[in-house]
Amino acid sequence: MSRRRDKPEASTSAVHSGEREGRPNVSDSLTTPIVQTSTYWFRDTQEVIDYQEGRHPSFEYGRYGNPTTRTAEEKLRELEGGEACVISASGMNSVTTLLLALVPAGGRIVTTRDCYRRTRQFISTILPKMGVETTVIDPSDMEALDRALEQPVTLFFSESPTNPYLCVVDIPRVAERCHARGTIVVIDSTFATPINQRALALGADLVLHSGTKYLAGHNDVMAGGLVGSEALIGPIRDLHAILGGVLDPHAAYLLLRGMKTLSLRVERANANATAIARFLESHPAVERVYYPGLESHADHEVARSQMSGFGGVVSFELPGGLEGASKFIDALRIPYIAPSLGGVESLVEQPTVMSYWDQTPERRAEIGIHDNLVRYACGIEDATDLIADIEQALERS
Ligand SMILES: Cc1ncc(COP(=O)(O)O)c(C=O)c1O
Repeated sequence: MSRRRDKPEASTSAVHSGEREGRPNVSDSLTTPIVQTSTYWFRDTQEVIDYQEGRHPSFEYGRYGNPTTRTAEEKLRELEGGEACVISASGMNSVTTLLLALVPAGGRIVTTRDCYRRTRQFISTILPKMGVETTVIDPSDMEALDRALEQPVTLFFSESPTNPYLCVVDIPRVAERCHARGTIVVIDSTFATPINQRALALGADLVLHSGTKYLAGHNDVMAGGLVGSEALIGPIRDLHAILGGVLDPHAAYLLLRGMKTLSLRVERANANATAIARFLESHPAVERVYYPGLESHADHEVARSQMSGFGGVVSFELPGGLEGASKFIDALRIPYIAPSLGGVESLVEQPTVMSYWDQTPERRAEIGIHDNLVRYACGIEDATDLIADIEQALERS
């Protein structure tokens, strides 16, 4: 039987993609060098003219590109199986640049309810200044999507899984409906990673990542990325060069290095989250657990059909309201109390206290954030230690 393979598996791509071809060749360095420059020089005026007329390749200036960043873009592009990729200085920079580039003034978008707070803020406070109208639907409400699509809609934007309730959007169904109406489908796949979910293969037109999370994976760098067709990435890249949210080359190196171990880290985070979710679900002191890998999760079947792993984040509700959840968090010994997710260290937060403290209780209720909700983002520690820690915290709180 032939062992020749046309496409490598994700774990092989994560290590090798982008690294050999086209990377900066400095002293045959095995690792991609950090090209720490803000500009690129030309040997003579003819070379400048050759560049302008497409005969001489150059990034010209740091805001238009960088070889280290380019290598990171190639790796992410390959991992998501897309045609083009643009990486930027943060996930939010990818969100804002994408929406500004693709949604025209007076346009209309559809988003889903459970959504990263700052994305929601940009959509509800900045886009209206350009006359952009937004319809917000439940991630699984196909009838609401059909109703929204009765009017022209430029773009559908949703996380999958969502933050913090880990709802899973049925990407093929959404794509079918949106594409019938000429609507672009964008999936923020930050919580899934390209290891657990290939949003483009499922029908999305663009996939977005906060590279700060699993891609970089060490809680030490901020980055964002978008992958899709050149026709969609081109205008985003052009606006990115104007808005200027470029990733520093050193940060691009950290992102690249992080991505090499993505597959291993995600497998461990998946396993840790699955073990923790099952433990919590069987614990009498826990009121409710949200994890798409659990049969009890409303979107479990959809998740099973489109994800190969269910991610590293588990959300759950504890008795005793705001205080009960705070006491539990304060009794934990392993995870750090911090926002974010996807790094090697486990992190824990109470969304009401961390991200939604500035909102009134009424507004929190409207958004659907329960005061007793805990979001636990697994790192790559040992599941037995994490569970023992959770058990002692439940006993002490
Ligand atoms: C799902 C999701 N998308 C986007 C972002 C924004 O990414 P960044 O923090 O890298 O700007 C976040 C940040 O938490 C997120 O959770």
